[in-house]
Amino acid sequence: MADLMLGIETSCDDTGVAIVRPDGSVVASAVASQVELHDRYGGVYPEMASRAHVDAILPTVRQVLDDAGLTPADLTAIGVTRGPGLIGSLVVGTNSAVGLGDGWGLPVYGVNHLRGHLRSADLDEQRVTYPAMVLLVSGGHTLLAHVQEDGDVTLVGSTRDDSVGEAYDKVARMLGLGYPGGPAIDRLAPTGTPDVDLPRPARDLGLDFSFSGLKSAVSRFLAAHPDHPPENVAASFVEACLDVLVSKCRKALAQHPSRCLVVVGGVAASPQLRERAAALCTEAGVELCLPPLRWSTDNGAMIGLAAWDYHARGLQERPRPDTSLTIADW
Ligand code: KG4
Ligand code: ZN
Repeated sequence: MADLMLGIETSCDDTGVAIVRPDGSVVASAVASQVELHDRYGGVYPEMASRAHVDAILPTVRQVLDDAGLTPADLTAIGVTRGPGLIGSLVVGTNSAVGLGDGWGLPVYGVNHLRGHLRSADLDEQRVTYPAMVLLVSGGHTLLAHVQEDGDVTLVGSTRDDSVGEAYDKVARMLGLGYPGGPAIDRLAPTGTPDVDLPRPARDLGLDFSFSGLKSAVSRFLAAHPDHPPENVAASFVEACLDVLVSKCRKALAQHPSRCLVVVGGVAASPQLRERAAALCTEAGVELCLPPLRWSTDNGAMIGLAAWDYHARGLQERPRPDTSLTIADW
């Protein structure tokens, strides 16, 4: 059996491993979650994350090979996240991948996590048509990028401070909803009425975003109105985030001719964002490309599929962790 990439993702708090074919079909995938570990601290505790990756990585690789009924000899290569992310977590992933590659005689590609999210939209089936406008909304990033079929990426907007995922997580914490905040806010918001007047920040920043003012506005409101129904605060916060994200996407599509809008990253798991993005695409006359929910949050499959792009370009060098990569980098 040929053409099988082992993808390994350890940039943050999930140990993701998968086996992926070049067409995006996923042969097997597993994610060892650390949510319970970090919930106690209300966010990711980096040193604990690294140690949990050490414990989880080899058993997760073994599980994926077993689930697929494969042995290491069946694999073509290994792709591993080399950045951006938490440095300790990246070191565990890249060192483990290099060790496995040496032991099994396989090439190892160091993959940009952001390109992994980008390629997540083509997992299971090819969806993206080019040129594409990509909205990447995760815990670490909020950005807009214009992408060509040859993999050339132009960053056209990004956040000047917090990412939208960070804002979700912090507001969830203020509301006592636990970690990670996104899913908890998404469950609460539809039960409330958006009756709190919150700012729509970054109106004047072109295609750039800013979410720290919104987060502070929620904090000030809660200090002044501690008994306001939390579901109404959550609903108002989600409305404000979505208004900003959708208006920036509308502007980006108007400025950069695109055949489709791709929405990826953990916050792309939000049903409300999916609905609003669909409405925008109908209005703008472009296709909407969304990865299935399970591929929106961090996973090994997106890294495996992105690794095929590195393989095609011969971009093989010993993966070195790099926390400063941008989406335009390989
Ligand atoms: O892409 P991701 O798994 O990790 C990073 O690369 O950062 O994104 C994690 C972020 C967290 O902030 C989490 O709260 C958010 O994605 N998230 C969601 C949902 N699921 C995860 N945000 C909104 N709605 C969701 N259903
Ligand atoms: Zn991510």
